[in-house]
Amino acid sequence: MTQDELFKVLVAHCKEYGFIFPSSEIYDGLAAVYDYGQMGVELKNNIKQYWWNAMTRLNENIAGVDTCVFMHPKTWVASGHVAAFNDPLIDNKDSKKRYRADNLIEDYLGKIEEKMNKEVEKGRKRFGDAFDEEKFRQTNPNILREKAKYDEVHGRYVAAEAANDLKEYRQIIIDCGIVDPISGTANWTDVRQFNLMFSTQISNTGDADDRIYLRPETAQGIFVEYLNVQKTGRMKIPFGIAQIGKAFRNEIVARQFIFRMREFEQMEMEFFCRPGTEMEWFRKWKETRMKWHVNLGMGAENYRFHDHEKLAHYANAATDIEFNFPFGFKELEGIHSRTDFDLGNHQRLSGKKIQYYDPETSESYVPYCVETSIGVDRMFLAVLSHSYKNEKLENGETRVVLSIPAPLAPVKCAVLPLVNKDGLPEMAQDVMNELKFDFKCQYDPKDSIGKRYRRQDAVGTPFCVTIDHESLNDGCVTLRERDSMEQRRIPVAELRAVIDKEVNMNNLLRTL
Ligand code: GAP
Repeated sequence: MTQDELFKVLVAHCKEYGFIFPSSEIYDGLAAVYDYGQMGVELKNNIKQYWWNAMTRLNENIAGVDTCVFMHPKTWVASGHVAAFNDPLIDNKDSKKRYRADNLIEDYLGKIEEKMNKEVEKGRKRFGDAFDEEKFRQTNPNILREKAKYDEVHGRYVAAEAANDLKEYRQIIIDCGIVDPISGTANWTDVRQFNLMFSTQISNTGDADDRIYLRPETAQGIFVEYLNVQKTGRMKIPFGIAQIGKAFRNEIVARQFIFRMREFEQMEMEFFCRPGTEMEWFRKWKETRMKWHVNLGMGAENYRFHDHEKLAHYANAATDIEFNFPFGFKELEGIHSRTDFDLGNHQRLSGKKIQYYDPETSESYVPYCVETSIGVDRMFLAVLSHSYKNEKLENGETRVVLSIPAPLAPVKCAVLPLVNKDGLPEMAQDVMNELKFDFKCQYDPKDSIGKRYRRQDAVGTPFCVTIDHESLNDGCVTLRERDSMEQRRIPVAELRAVIDKEVNMNNLLRTL
């Protein structure tokens, strides 16, 4: 299966098994807006719990908040979003479709990279064990030609980005012969800046002054509550404030399912520190956040750092943690050293003193800040795309299984009476009543046991408990494990402890 096909299958699987639905689908949906179904909401809540507990329980100096989507409009002037939260957009005059100019160029560069990689694979096949990839890349004429093209375009692109040169973006698109995939023409408009914030009116007078924005990041709620939390929580620097909440962006090109949405959820933590110590904390949080990801067991090789060449308007250092999605390595989480940009600007615009008196240095200052910011939905996609497997079994059959890390799985245990009679449903209900206080369980009495196992595999349930006639006599049940498909008999009294050992979120937190 190609990566593209895998992605399509994944989207269909999410819908079929109640993970994700296109929003308001009965009206043909709404682009880049998705609803989470009965399985999706459980997985999403577990991801949030893993993050929230890692932040606010494992760190005594991190406090949580829950601030509003609507904020005073000056917030977004102070944060720089009114002036600078823009994407460069370009329209094709024939198809009337709108694109991000930077994406068109990046896709073009990606295709050159793909060509070079294909050439390398051909060489590897031709030369077998004697293949030296580095030498091949340095000498193969096809690769050298493509590399020269790549370097030239990449150099121009980086310079245009740094200078915010919209005319040069357009010129690169024209010079590279980039055409609209729909119309096939290069009949492009000029490149314009497009602000990504959604706005609405707070009252019904319709005055321009009534305009407020739907927050494009949760971070600003933390900054405007900084003083309240610091004072009421008697927080001493360094300390952090964490928040999980919705954010909204009018993405021009919303694509790749829940990777880029117009309404999404963020998990953000702003860590306040003494000026001059921010790089130390930046390094510390890079390490801590990478550990949080790798700890899930989805393969250290599937993550990498990508340091930013172009920094956001608020940052003096920034890196992304990228994940190996079905469409390649892409940003999963951002870690930014935001200096005193936000608190300093809020102090200036609000006229309220936002200073910290440091008893150790006897100085007052506006704290510096290191931010970790991850999208819940992107994390969901990372977990799901890594977990999806279409396995060929020894008996020639196939099964679709989601090998979701057990503490994140939507349902932890399915309780299955072998037949729906003879007292088995009653005993199964007793088992359900015993387990449901500790784990999300699902009772399923319908269809053959093989079909029921497949249904649970498809939603990633780590354990199935089957109650048969023998169970009524010996008080034992069959416990089937999702990944190995191994089955063993165990007493009902031992079920809770055996399941808990694998699915308890605290075990995951203990290894951090
Ligand atoms: N406060 C900093 C900030 O918002 P960002 O890199 O724009 O930084 C942080 O966003 C994270 O939010 C990203 O790494 C990504 O996981 C998630 N994210 C951003 N835009 C998104 C979108 N349109 N859809 C889904 N997730 C998004």
